[in-house]
Amino acid sequence: MFDRDDVERSLKTVETGAPFERFGRWLAEAEEKEPNDPNAMALATATSGAAPSVRMVLLKEWDEAGFVFYTNFESRKADELTANDQAALLFHWKSLRRQVRIDGRVTPVDAATADAYFASRPRDAQVGAWASDQSRPLAGRFELEKRVAKFAAKHAVGPVPRPPHWSGFRLAPHAMEFWISHRFRLHKRELYERADAGWTVQELFP
Ligand SMILES: Cc1cc2nc3c(=O)[nH]c(=O)nc-3n(C[C@H](O)[C@H](O)[C@H](O)COP(=O)(O)O)c2cc1C
Repeated sequence: MFDRDDVERSLKTVETGAPFERFGRWLAEAEEKEPNDPNAMALATATSGAAPSVRMVLLKEWDEAGFVFYTNFESRKADELTANDQAALLFHWKSLRRQVRIDGRVTPVDAATADAYFASRPRDAQVGAWASDQSRPLAGRFELEKRVAKFAAKHAVGPVPRPPHWSGFRLAPHAMEFWISHRFRLHKRELYERADAGWTVQELFP
């Protein structure tokens, strides 16, 4: 049984940077070992009525302020995040047999941050951001190809500006759980939770 004294004994306060340092080490290992998209993460959102949805996105920047991904701000995920800023991220690095769960709230990144990232993207991806009405119905592949051709022609000369509907969200975490596979399903789970000063860490039953 779960004894309250045990819980209090095992709850430790750690330094502010602790879960981020750990995340950085794990991501660096994933970048060496995962053959595809080690920065891919599932993003769970929910409507204001609490209906959930989930999809993959790519982590593009991160630090102690949060985890940033970029997307179309007229997409389903953006609609849900605008109505309900609570979201969750999940990394699963199969080759490492590790999982990281992150819960928090999102805010849009500032325009300068989004501009800088957009400018670093390949030109075809910049044109694609203009061409895609992400999450809305598409008549067929030809409709998309026509829109790509239209925006490629429109922005044929000079830098492609960032579309007004394309930007990033930053998820500021209040909980981060690190999971490592162990034999006989006796996995190791450590849950970091934001506290007044720094973070606490607590092991959980697998
Ligand atoms: C590995 C992977 C990475 C992806 N990265 C992104 C991303 O960074 N941004 C994005 O908008 N969609 C990304 N997608 C596509 C999304 O999963 C999703 O199809 C799209 O964003 C529309 O989602 P929504 O209708 O829920 O808004 C990625 C898909 C995969 C499989």
